[in-house]
Amino acid sequence: MIPRRRIALEFDDLVDALRCLWTSAEHAAAQVAAFERAFAASIGVRHAIATSSGRDALGLILDELDLGEGDELVIPAYTLGELVPLIRARGIVPVPADIDPTTFNVTPESVTHRIGPRTRAILIVHLLGAPCDAPALRVLADAHSVALIEDCAHAPCARIDGRAAGSFGHAALFSLEATKAVAAFGGGVVASDDDALVARIRARIASRPQREWPPVRKALLKLIEELGVRSPAYGLVARLMFSERRAGRFDRLYRRAHDKVRGNATAFSGFQARLGLRKLARMQARNRRLNALWEDFAARLPERLARQRRDAVGEPAFYNFVARFDGDIAALRAAAQSTGLDLGIGSEVMDDTAAMLGFDDCPGAAEAHARAVLIPLYEGLSERRRARMVDVLVRICRELP
Ligand SMILES: Cc1ncc(COP(=O)(O)O)c(C=O)c1O
Repeated sequence: MIPRRRIALEFDDLVDALRCLWTSAEHAAAQVAAFERAFAASIGVRHAIATSSGRDALGLILDELDLGEGDELVIPAYTLGELVPLIRARGIVPVPADIDPTTFNVTPESVTHRIGPRTRAILIVHLLGAPCDAPALRVLADAHSVALIEDCAHAPCARIDGRAAGSFGHAALFSLEATKAVAAFGGGVVASDDDALVARIRARIASRPQREWPPVRKALLKLIEELGVRSPAYGLVARLMFSERRAGRFDRLYRRAHDKVRGNATAFSGFQARLGLRKLARMQARNRRLNALWEDFAARLPERLARQRRDAVGEPAFYNFVARFDGDIAALRAAAQSTGLDLGIGSEVMDDTAAMLGFDDCPGAAEAHARAVLIPLYEGLSERRRARMVDVLVRICRELP
């Protein structure tokens, strides 16, 4: 089975995990500060603050921009659904702006359509690494005197007009989850040029305990998960887990289990900072390599799999490979699975937040949710396996109605 995702676990990650056992608290704090400086420099902003996750970073930004009860926040109609309860828990009203189903991103037009008298901020995402039109959206936000927040969970290397994604908003959030470009087994970053906002966020997290164990435990669990995914038994297990009936349920269970081990109330650890520094140093080269792989793979796919348009605005970052299938995605997944190819569909790709919120006027998001297919593409996937995937997909696309 070619699994849907794989985590790039390196020997050095495990050495770092062991090292943290005899690291002093002062040294760990110095590592975190060094990571924050390096991260800010890579985005071209004055400040970066390491947090316990991307979600934590968003929560801190919303709180410290003073958004609260009854304030409206325009959000993408197609993004991670788990952001919705996080926003609502603060009494903030999320209002979805539709996406362009070819780029999967909101547009200045779709956002303008949702701005009203109660709008206090706009959250945009560079979905799956494709830059969205952040410069135009910043102009729009300024014209309406509302804040622009950039969700760069998928896009630490994306650039627009020569500037990094994350440098256009009043604040940006990044994720350092195990599958992300700067993978630190959890963790996130707030990036901003706003000194006062940053001071308030720093004051909030200053009292959090810095514990080394939760991210190390997570790294060990990921190692076990990864060994399972690479074992010959994975094909059978995946077929049981991702059957049409069970797939959604399994995905929810997996995400919940994931949340349990993320150590939300803790500060970013020295272990994570060391990993982050190492991955930051290699981030641009990795991105170039994987973007080239993306282009080569996309060029070989059949037309019925319309790949995400990633160059509409700027230079993309590599994240997952997602295409739209003009047929029955469940049938596509079942056919691929029977030949040993593990595709993700529906909410395993992203969520239709407009539908979650009861809006029925976001056709772009509905289409993306109904048609998007996550095709495995990552580092370490051999040319032989990539060629096999292309053959399988060409054949299935020919055979399916
Ligand atoms: C679009 C988007 N935003 C935010 C996040 C939150 O990041 P984290 O998992 O680090 O909380 C994710 C997570 O994958 C995401 O996909």
